[in-house]
Formats: sequence, structure tokens, C-alpha cells
Amino acid sequence: MDKSFSNKKIILIIGGGIAAYKSLDLIRLLKKQDCKIKVVLTGSGKKFVTPLSISSLSQNKVYHDIFDSEKEAEMDHISLSRWCDIILFAPITANSIEKLATGRADDLASILILASNKQVILVPAMNVRMWHHKSTQSNMDKLLDFGYLSVGPSIGEMACGEYGEGKMSSPEQICEFLKNYFYERNIVKNKNLKALVTAGPTKEYIDPVRFMTNNSSGKQGYEIASSLAKYGVKTTLISGPSKLKKPKNVNIVRVESADQMYAAAKKTLPVDIAVCVAAITDFKPEKYETEKIKKDNLNLNFKRNIDILEFLSKNNSQRPKLVVGFAAETNDIIKFAKQKKSNKYCDWIVANDVSNPEIGFNSEYNAVSIIDNDKVEKIGKNLKSYIANKIARKIINNFIQ
Ligand SMILES: Cc1cc2nc3c(=O)[nH]c(=O)nc-3n(C[C@H](O)[C@H](O)[C@H](O)COP(=O)(O)O)c2cc1C
Repeated sequence: MDKSFSNKKIILIIGGGIAAYKSLDLIRLLKKQDCKIKVVLTGSGKKFVTPLSISSLSQNKVYHDIFDSEKEAEMDHISLSRWCDIILFAPITANSIEKLATGRADDLASILILASNKQVILVPAMNVRMWHHKSTQSNMDKLLDFGYLSVGPSIGEMACGEYGEGKMSSPEQICEFLKNYFYERNIVKNKNLKALVTAGPTKEYIDPVRFMTNNSSGKQGYEIASSLAKYGVKTTLISGPSKLKKPKNVNIVRVESADQMYAAAKKTLPVDIAVCVAAITDFKPEKYETEKIKKDNLNLNFKRNIDILEFLSKNNSQRPKLVVGFAAETNDIIKFAKQKKSNKYCDWIVANDVSNPEIGFNSEYNAVSIIDNDKVEKIGKNLKSYIANKIARKIINNFIQ
């Protein structure tokens, strides 16, 4: 399997950490792959590695000053961000992580990232306590939520003599990450993969003013649609009522009821991938009353709503190659999720525990188990964006093999 990424244009930003010396070796490895590299040094980065070593290795000019452009009108931060395929910040310090999380733009590195729409990949490196500090962790959460990717940090002995998580990933690990990144995107592009994702609750009207719904925010589904789109999958998100903004590069269809969601899903076929995250209201009133029901008339009857996951899984003529369902359970999570998987004929079930208020419905966090055949893969508590990226990668890998 050829995973070379020759001719890719990489901006490498080197921050002011002791691990900056590793980035010299990283330049050498990337050059071996025939990548084109332009390096930006932060002010502190210059104290750790010299522009001379970098320009000799990268065979390019080194950039470090916002007001340094040879041709003033060109503006380095704009021309660099247009030139590259990705921006790799290695090592990134706690200081720069904070800067990117708050949108501060006071040096070439931060202004360049703010002005760019390219994928940003961060390689953090710092002392273990700096890394685990709540402020660093919450800034990193924000950046992952923006869609930035991260490599490491790994666990090991540090330059300061302490041991723990915070060590910069090795140049080989970073190179491997980039190889996979470019390779996966290439495959997706060539295969022209299409996906539909359902998200959010549905709203079932009883009469013109009353309805049944549930607490789903739609966040997990929106994040999955966004992650798939980032991998280059042509993605349609069919969303029940949700306050969330449309994810970038995703085609969105907004609906209210389960019937509307079903009709929209049917219209979106054929697709290669279907991910049913929506918390469809299981029941709906047997009859919709066109006039407001009077208070003393409590004779309501309900019927089952359409099951979109089952419809997609059993669709003989247009079954997506991969159908993924979600199971929100409050007890015996894995047992019920396995049952749901076999009852609905879907390929994978992602189970989550909605009884825990710290995760699931209306929370930024989730913790899930992906059931694929009889294998159970657990993803511990993390941001929904992080979990979405993990699920999207697993989906993409399914099409690569
Ligand atoms: C010897 C030395 C080593 C340092 N190593 C690190 C490090 O590994 N990680 C980190 O986040 N900061 C480290 N710092 C602190 C940063 O250099 C400092 O926060 C600086 O403002 C970072 O600037 P930058 O983010 O613009 O590169 C170190 C400082 C010194 C003096």
C-alpha cells in the first residue's frame, strides 16, 4: 500500500519548547517524502533552533516576523496560508495553545492560522503538569472542537527529568500520522463516498400547540457529519429541531417529525454510509387534532413511529454499504445495544449511557462503545467532536480495507 505524500505543501511552525530540536529531524524526514516545507519560527522558537539550520534542511527561507515580507503587499500570513496543504505546529507550547484557543493574533504563527482555512495539526510538548493543567486541557478541548487534529503528546521521561504525559511525539510518529492523513483523504476522494447522517430529536405534534419530543441536542450527529465532511465524504445531515449551526461543507436538510426525516432519508439515497444518530421520538399520536384539544379531553392514543435505521438496513435495492445505528440506553447498555443491532440488521451500533448527566443528551461530552460484529470498542469520556472523529476514522478505514 503506497502511502507516500510527495509534493504536499506543509507549513511547519516551530514553537519555543525544548523539544524544538526534534523538528529538525522532522524536516529531514518530510523532505525524504518529497514534501515541500516552509518553516515559521515563533519568537521563542528562535531561542531553541536557529533559522540557519532550518533553512539549510528545508531549503527554503524561514519566516518569523509579521512585518518581514520582502514584498510588503504580499503579506506572508496570507500568502503562506494560501500556499500550503496543511499547517503543522510542532512543537506547540502551552502558550501558543492558549493563543489559538482565544484567537489572539500577535505573531506570524497565530495570525497565519487565524487567516487560514487549511487543516491544522498540533503536536503539543510540555512538562506533565503544564499539560494536565485545567487551562491547557480546556484550551486543547476548544481547539479539537474547532476541528484541529493533534498528535500526542506521548508518555515518557522529559527534558526536565520528570516522567509523564507531555513528551513530543517522535518525528517518525508524526510522519506516520501525516501519511495516514493524506492517504485516507486521497482514498475518500477517489471513491467519491457519500453519507447520510440523521441527528437531533423529532417533534411529533398532538395538536397545533402541543407536541412530544426529547432532550437530544443533535451535537453528536452534527459532529459526525462534520468529521465525515472533513475526510472528504459528501455528507447530507438530516436534522430534527436543533439550535446548532450547519457544519461546514455539509448539505443540511432540516425536518421536524419522524415522517419528514424518513422522507428526507429516502430522498438522499443512494449513499455508501448511513449513520443514524437521531433520537427519533418512538411514538406519535394516533391522530393529529387540527384544533387545540380541550383540557378535560385526555383520551390520547399513540402509535409507533417509523424506524429509519431498520428501513435503511433492510433496504434491498438501495442499502448503504455501511449502516451505523446509535443506541441510547440507561441500563445493561451493551446487552440492549447488541439486541438492537441484531433486531435492526445494521452493521454497527454505537451505544451510549444516557443515564449519566455528565455525558450524552445535551452535554458536550460523550462516552461510547462501538459494537462491530461481536467486537466492542470503548471510547472513554471525551468531547463529542473527538468521539465523532474516532467514529469517522473507523468508518473511513472500513472503506480502505
Ligand atoms: C528552557 C525552556 C524550555 C521550555 N520548554 C517548554 C516546553 O517544552 N513547552 C512549553 O509549553 N513551554 C516551554 N517553555 C516556555 C515557552 O518557551 C514560553 O511559554 C514561550 O512564551 C512560548 O512561546 P511560543 O508559544 O510563542 O513559542 C520553555 C521555556 C524555557 C526557558
